[in-house]
Amino acid sequence: MPLQFIRSLIERHMVRHRQSEDILSKRYQIVGADVPEATLFKKDLLISSLSASPRAINSIYFYDDAGSALFERLCEEETYYLFRTERGLLVDNAKSISDITGPVYLVELGSGNAKKTTLLIDAYVTAHGPTSYAAIDINHSILERAAENILSETSDLDFLGIVGTYQTGLTETKKLAGRKLLVCLGSTIGNLYDDELYYLLLAARAASSHGDFFLVGIDLDKDSKILEAAYNNQTAILSNLCALQHLNRRFGGNFDIFNFRHVAFYNRSMNRIESYVEAAQEQSINLGKLEFSFHLEKGELIRTEIMRKFTPQALNRLFMEYGFHPVQHWIDSDNRYAVCLFQLSDEPTKYGSEPPVAS
Ligand SMILES: C[S@@+](CC[C@H](N)C(=O)[O-])C[C@H]1O[C@@H](n2cnc3c(N)ncnc32)[C@H](O)[C@@H]1O
Repeated sequence: MPLQFIRSLIERHMVRHRQSEDILSKRYQIVGADVPEATLFKKDLLISSLSASPRAINSIYFYDDAGSALFERLCEEETYYLFRTERGLLVDNAKSISDITGPVYLVELGSGNAKKTTLLIDAYVTAHGPTSYAAIDINHSILERAAENILSETSDLDFLGIVGTYQTGLTETKKLAGRKLLVCLGSTIGNLYDDELYYLLLAARAASSHGDFFLVGIDLDKDSKILEAAYNNQTAILSNLCALQHLNRRFGGNFDIFNFRHVAFYNRSMNRIESYVEAAQEQSINLGKLEFSFHLEKGELIRTEIMRKFTPQALNRLFMEYGFHPVQHWIDSDNRYAVCLFQLSDEPTKYGSEPPVAS
């Protein structure tokens, strides 16, 4: 049963977490736990996206505790090559990255459990000595998990967790001293729509100084069969339905996951995988805390997530519009995935230098 399975995943996660918390307490700091929920999960945005055609939700709703545990499990799925491939690229190239940038303050956007980041951190500690790392994530407990993963491997690290969105988190990092390396792994930028990418890159630039770096992991465009297999395995299906449970819990909703079917396919004209939940029958949805209801016809879709696929060239063009110039990129031997390093220049960019307004 999916619900029992999700509950047992969370319970296992919480037990591990409580054990490690005792050992690691006081070795890290997490800020932002007091940021109001309304700042992180914007009700108006959710209502307008659920009222749009097609109806949609933001991928942020994949990442409550259950969703984060499922994401960790997804990374172990045979068909989900993204995690393994990016990890391999970091195993092979973390040292080169640390040689190119020199010592930096690492700032990760959407750190998740930061398992792959430990590879980067090891390289920086080995090459440059004690290192500082700030992890930004919307999910508080995954930041504690990240601290647990990293601090069990190194003691030469100053760990700061920042609970927040990319925007609120990046604003916090403006006060951090020294040259920065922003890091965004897991093809996370592929989950962002154009306007979200715009705000993220403006916020990244506003939080950076001339000479700071930005390391980005992207999934490359490829055969649709490989792409679709990555997002149609058992865990991907559960994650998709689990986003509805998150909406139920957060907003007093009545989504019944057994009344929905998972759908994910490659939209070649948009270069992205699109995930949906499809109504298996006609039904009315009510999100009590939002005082918002809508009616779904049988077969109607709600888009839950996009996963954009890039070429390094397209990413270069995009990042240059915000002043981040390509330094080097690394691609695996099967041409599946790339890790790309950029550096902020002080040349004029397509977009002005004003800090972004909140999206
Ligand atoms: C695709 S996972 C990647 C996790 C990790 N970087 C990796 O490579 O395994 C995206 C992560 O970003 C976080 N996240 C999603 N949307 C966010 C947002 N708007 N602001 C901050 N964090 C967000 C999620 O909680 C999740 O941990």
